[in-house]
Amino acid sequence: MNSQVIIFDTTLRDGEQALQASLSVKQKLQIALSLENTGIDIIEVGFPISSPGDFKSVHEISKIVKQSKICSLARCVNKDIDVAAEAMSLSKSFRIHIFLATSTLHMESKLNKNFNEIIDMAVSSVKRALRYTDDIEFSCEDASRTDMDNLCKIVEKLIKTGVKTINIPDTVGYTIPNELSLIIKNLFQRVPNIDKSIISVHCHNDLGMAVGNSIAAIQAGARQIEGTMNGIGERAGNTALEEIIMAIKVRKDILKVSTNIKHKEIYRTSKIISQICNMPIPPNKAIVGSNAFAHSSGIHQDGVLKNRKNYEIMDPSSIGLKEVKLNLTSRSGRAAVKHYMTEMGYKETDYNMDELYTAFLKLADKKGQVFDYDLEALAFVNTQQDELEYFSLSFFSVQSISNGLSTASVKLLCGKDVFIESATTSNGPVDAIYQALNRITHFPIILQKYQLIAKGKGKDALGQVNILVEYKKRKFHGVGLATDIIESSVQAMINVLNTIWKVNQVNKKLKNLKKINK
Ligand code: KIV
Ligand code: ZN
Repeated sequence: MNSQVIIFDTTLRDGEQALQASLSVKQKLQIALSLENTGIDIIEVGFPISSPGDFKSVHEISKIVKQSKICSLARCVNKDIDVAAEAMSLSKSFRIHIFLATSTLHMESKLNKNFNEIIDMAVSSVKRALRYTDDIEFSCEDASRTDMDNLCKIVEKLIKTGVKTINIPDTVGYTIPNELSLIIKNLFQRVPNIDKSIISVHCHNDLGMAVGNSIAAIQAGARQIEGTMNGIGERAGNTALEEIIMAIKVRKDILKVSTNIKHKEIYRTSKIISQICNMPIPPNKAIVGSNAFAHSSGIHQDGVLKNRKNYEIMDPSSIGLKEVKLNLTSRSGRAAVKHYMTEMGYKETDYNMDELYTAFLKLADKKGQVFDYDLEALAFVNTQQDELEYFSLSFFSVQSISNGLSTASVKLLCGKDVFIESATTSNGPVDAIYQALNRITHFPIILQKYQLIAKGKGKDALGQVNILVEYKKRKFHGVGLATDIIESSVQAMINVLNTIWKVNQVNKKLKNLKKINK
């Protein structure tokens, strides 16, 4: 049996239909191009009959995507098939994906048809689609709940008519791995012309088994897997392609199959899709979650520092991830603290490890996550964490006009001094107030990330602002929490300014020490 598994991505069809807001043509094109760049074999780019917007995006994508084959969905309706073909007509080669339900439940209570009528509709639609392309995929919708005799019968007829890919969808995410495996094995045993087609599966994740089911299907002989990046899709979503792809790579010893995917593009594509679809990736999401390669427990951190393989089953760089994190929290041990200090260029003789670790635990309990610059401050400046911060907000005011200018004034306490500054910009109130603060501190900072999260619901919700700032080639994190989102934005920036101030104190102190030692 062929050892190549075809990866079929339906982010732009099954994924997109589940989004709260539909995507623009430009956004769909961006997604299609990043999927193509990742080496996806087939990209299902839409369901052109469903709306003029969908038709247009399929049409645009078909002009540009060249390496991946594009595919469009159609019901067993002549117009659907004709429109799908027309939408993709500018592409050198394309696939038409036709679907029709075959389970008794769907046939009776949704379509009001008997099985013979279903076979006739399916066969006649395939014949119609063959006028446009010889690459036809047919999905027996709700296949996992379809009577096995019926499934074998329709699959045989479809292959005889010219269908090259038979898709077995678990439309409602109902099946379990062993059951789907038996369905696929039955097809291989009972359908005489099965070798003339590729068997595909399309799993939904209602019971959290989409990836497990797809793996079981591969082991039973399926050679096309359908899914979406990050698992987005109807209800609980579809098979997460990044998980399947990496399972195939990491467990090649057992699965003995491979894909055409450029693994190093996975992380980037996942991020692009999450951003464009406005679907954040949960931190603990396999492969692409921010914690997927982050180690928190002291025992694990120590183990990873001795040999990454102790707690990592795949190399983070294999999916294109550059930074691997050891989270510095109260669960971290001395090994992690020492690792960060070494990374920053300090030898163990430069600081007192016992004192540093005690201070670190105290700060971690208070702050949650500790960063490298915090360790530096703890090691070299006698900062009492309870002491007053150098910068603190006394007062601010903002005025904004829609599509116009925003003006902000801020009164900032800097140690024993008080400064007042104002700024006006056309980039909104947050930018105005950040500029006013900058006129006071003159720190050469670049705001790299600004994130606003609603904490709680309704009118009592708090706005939490997280920012990432670059200052002299180092990254600093700030957080602010208040009912007023401008106030949380100011707090987040003041949080960063205080950290930078402490780092500058550390540097001054280190310079003085060097002078004394000379
Ligand atoms: O879930 C499903 O059955 C589908 C088909 C159209 C393949 O999305
Ligand atoms: Zn689906």
